[in-house]
Amino acid sequence: MSPSRFTTLSVASLLTLAALVPSSWASLDCNEVLTGGVKFNFGELGAPHIVHWTQEDSINHEQKNWNFTVDLCQNLKRPKGANKNEWCNHGTRVCAIREEVDTTGSRNATITPIDIAGNYATSNGRQLEEKFERLRNSKSNADTGKEGVRIELHGGRWPADKADGTNQRAIIEMVCDPERTGLEGDEKDNGEHEEDGEDNESRRLRTKDVSGKCEDSDKSLRFCGYELEEPAKDKKVQTLRLEWRTKHACENVEDGSGSHWGFFTWFIIILFLATAAYLIFGSWLNYNRYGARGWDLLPHGDAIRDIPYILKDFGRKVVTSAQGSGNRGGYSAV
Ligand SMILES: *[C@@H]1O[C@H](CO)[C@@H](O)[C@H](O)[C@H]1NC(C)=O
Ligand SMILES: *[C@@H]1O[C@H](CO)[C@@H](O)[C@H](O)[C@H]1NC(C)=O
Ligand SMILES: *[C@@H]1O[C@H](CO)[C@@H](O)[C@H](O)[C@H]1NC(C)=O
Repeated sequence: MSPSRFTTLSVASLLTLAALVPSSWASLDCNEVLTGGVKFNFGELGAPHIVHWTQEDSINHEQKNWNFTVDLCQNLKRPKGANKNEWCNHGTRVCAIREEVDTTGSRNATITPIDIAGNYATSNGRQLEEKFERLRNSKSNADTGKEGVRIELHGGRWPADKADGTNQRAIIEMVCDPERTGLEGDEKDNGEHEEDGEDNESRRLRTKDVSGKCEDSDKSLRFCGYELEEPAKDKKVQTLRLEWRTKHACENVEDGSGSHWGFFTWFIIILFLATAAYLIFGSWLNYNRYGARGWDLLPHGDAIRDIPYILKDFGRKVVTSAQGSGNRGGYSAV
């Protein structure tokens, strides 16, 4: 095999590797949600946002108060004042806090955190595995006429440490509404209201939810359900559904940043160049030193063994020449 053919082969295999790596390493980047050739930037919606849901169970005199906290841009941090066992595990992007209140008042309320979505690579190994679907490309009837992107996030399980726990997921429908930033009626995780959801009847009518599944609210981020679904046979997933109306889900929104390369693209390119340089240098070395041809050109074994000596040699040369010139410089100065 000629050196050039060998190089072509390695280039091909490196490119294959480069194509595989980012998808498994990268985690949801809210600045760059790419789907169906369209790019969305949800950077301005970063930070934890809360939606609430109350379940009444009058028969058992019980009420369940749910707080669902979402951050599209980074992992959630435990709010100040929350106990460790009352908050989701490290790596969570979507966290549910369930408070069970005994309406007769004979029992204290209990608080249970449930990981819905996140990266738990270091604990139970489950991953966010984010999926994006452009609503315009969706085959579902319910999506006709909708513009935006559906974000599906995984990784959660409850209980998290039990292999037979119930898998969780969050499906967040980012729907285009040119007149909303997405922060209308928003509630930060410290309970503060960012902007009051103004009661504007015309807007409410215009953006009224067609399916009627989501909570009736003028907030941009709305709760649409938390139910056990069966997306595939014998695969039950407790699914949190949210709808987020925002101009950032509109496809014509101007994004002045243009196309920029992400960190991983650069990382892969540098890795690739370094490997290519190593292979070419190694082959050249074999060719010159040992007159190697064909497979012998491969910079394995011998070349790798030689590298420390070559470097040492090189270093010694640099040092000697530096000292030499230094000395000469010293003499000429006198
Ligand atoms: C409820 O909580 C209080 C204080 O945390 C405790 O003193 C009390 O015993 C609890 N009551 C029950 C019924 O667990
Ligand atoms: C849910 O959120 C509300 C408002 O942010 C807060 O007052 C309440 O304590 C939260 N409940 C739990 C169980 O964390
Ligand atoms: C609703 O908002 C629009 C602009 O967003 C405004 O023109 C209109 O007057 C408002 N209507 C009411 C009833 O406040």
